[in-house]
Amino acid sequence: MKKEILLTGIKPTGEPHLGNYIGAIRPSLEIAQKSNFLSYLFVADYHSLTSLSDSKEIQESIRCVAATWLACGLNPKKTVFYCQSDVPELFELNWILSCITPKGLMNRAHSYKAKLDQNKEMGRKDMDDGVNVGLYSYPVLMAADILLFSANQVPVGEDQTQHLEMTRDIAQKFNRIYKKDLLTIPKALFQKEKIVLGLDGRKMSKSYQNYIPLFCDNKRLRKLVMKIKTDSSPPGEPKSVKDCLVFGIYKHFANNQEVSELEKEYQKGISWGEAKERLFEKLERFFKDKKNIYEHYRNNFSEVDKILQEGKEKARDVAIPFLKEIKKWIGIND
Ligand code: TRP
Repeated sequence: MKKEILLTGIKPTGEPHLGNYIGAIRPSLEIAQKSNFLSYLFVADYHSLTSLSDSKEIQESIRCVAATWLACGLNPKKTVFYCQSDVPELFELNWILSCITPKGLMNRAHSYKAKLDQNKEMGRKDMDDGVNVGLYSYPVLMAADILLFSANQVPVGEDQTQHLEMTRDIAQKFNRIYKKDLLTIPKALFQKEKIVLGLDGRKMSKSYQNYIPLFCDNKRLRKLVMKIKTDSSPPGEPKSVKDCLVFGIYKHFANNQEVSELEKEYQKGISWGEAKERLFEKLERFFKDKKNIYEHYRNNFSEVDKILQEGKEKARDVAIPFLKEIKKWIGIND
């Protein structure tokens, strides 16, 4: 049976949080484990250069995110785990794709348009103020990431759906121009109901500073859990689990029985302090072993580096011959 090819990129942007775990890490790893899938997971370090320029911060983020995925169960024997910057073939393909990508397509990218809107709002004269070419052509590099490995299943969050659509457009255009179905048209794997709300009820996100980190000490964890917004109903008054942020997080980490038990406690009027204490304990237990593995990797980064090096070899074993084939077909000497 032909294997499905799963691929996703992880942008290293600092401390990973519960939203990342529920929305991206756990579902991607679940699929990666399936026997009919060949999976590629990579750290999109070159993508992060569009917004980061502190070398120490970049280095720290890359290792932090790699350690996180390993601690959460990524099996490097089963999944090809590598750094984008370690696969130079991607950047050759990036150029090839750039030359067939209509500029107008990039003009429509949400991430670019958001910058324009921001500039307009601030009353700036130059609509492109603060926009680098990397940010502008970000979707082309993302297309190269996906197409070089002939991935057909790409797990994406809502914010990346449009980018994937662009990858499909670019691949179709390439195949049309060069009259051969060389590039595989990828599909988005949607992750339903995986949005996690943060402490203040908005989507959990680093930019809102409303997140709970995956691996922090218990003191900080408790403090954050206690900060989750609730209504002001007193102890003893029945509470609804619907729209409750505390319950909303709890249910992602508990089994069915535990969920219905807590639901009963809500009906009986559990106090918010107690409900939060339950959530704290749940999170503490759920992440305990993962946290130990994470700490281990943080203290032994050379092990992480070694795993990424092995991933690099495996990724290039696929990337090198495929790029050769593409170049030959389009008439570029290799
Ligand atoms: N753009 C993605 C993000 O910001 C990261 C990414 C880069 C990616 N290349 C990719 C995701 C290829 C899926 C496939 O999260």
